[in-house]
Amino acid sequence: MIQLKLIAAACEDLGIGLNNNLPWRLKTEMAYFTRMTETTKNANKKNVVIMGRRTWDSIPPKFKPLSNRINFVLSRSPLAISEFKDSYSFLSLESAVDALKSSQFAGKFDSVWVIGGSQIYKLAMENKYFYRMYLTRIMKSFECDTFLPALPENLSEVQDPEVPVEVQSENGIEFVYKIYENPNSVAQV
Ligand SMILES: NC(=O)c1ccc[n+]([C@@H]2O[C@H](COP(=O)([O-])OP(=O)(O)OC[C@H]3O[C@@H](n4cnc5c(N)ncnc54)[C@H](OP(=O)(O)O)[C@@H]3O)[C@@H](O)[C@H]2O)c1
Repeated sequence: MIQLKLIAAACEDLGIGLNNNLPWRLKTEMAYFTRMTETTKNANKKNVVIMGRRTWDSIPPKFKPLSNRINFVLSRSPLAISEFKDSYSFLSLESAVDALKSSQFAGKFDSVWVIGGSQIYKLAMENKYFYRMYLTRIMKSFECDTFLPALPENLSEVQDPEVPVEVQSENGIEFVYKIYENPNSVAQV
């Protein structure tokens, strides 16, 4: 089933990045990102993570590609990333979604996570398969040069049994995991 689940962490003022990196270091939040994007209902399948070329570039070489996940990277130019296991580049979000419907991938993946950055969140929020935004709200201000695009106004807050509702804390920084659902989402089986 194609449902785009977006996952992001944003500080006050919705900042998400600085100098093509994360503005903060929160190990528990990173572990949450990994757990959410890696975990599948079916042990024989992997999830797909869709990201922009700048976010791909921001991943340190030793963590590239994101392990146990099928990496889709969007760029307006073809990228030479076939040397990386389970990694594919696409010229548009539409062509990435088309690939998910094709015999190469159909039935072979579990969830589809859109992992940023800002440009790709915007594309995904405008896409008819946009289903949910999993947004970690960090209750502190950080210097940022990249920001989360405005969330559509019609989203409703929902819960997911896999996501703790309590306020989290690390090194005195508090954050909370929120989930917003798009009532107009189309699910492609
Ligand atoms: N806090 C978080 O949760 C989070 C998550 C992810 C990333 N980030 C941060 O966000 C920042 C990166 O975000 P960003 O917005 O600058 O970059 P991005 O969205 O990661 O990537 C942008 C690139 O995607 C490609 N692209 C954009 N629109 C496209 C389209 N319509 N079709 C095909 N390809 C398209 C282009 O690649 P080409 O230039 O190759 O054509 C563009 O330069 C970094 O600081 C990163 O650390 C934060």
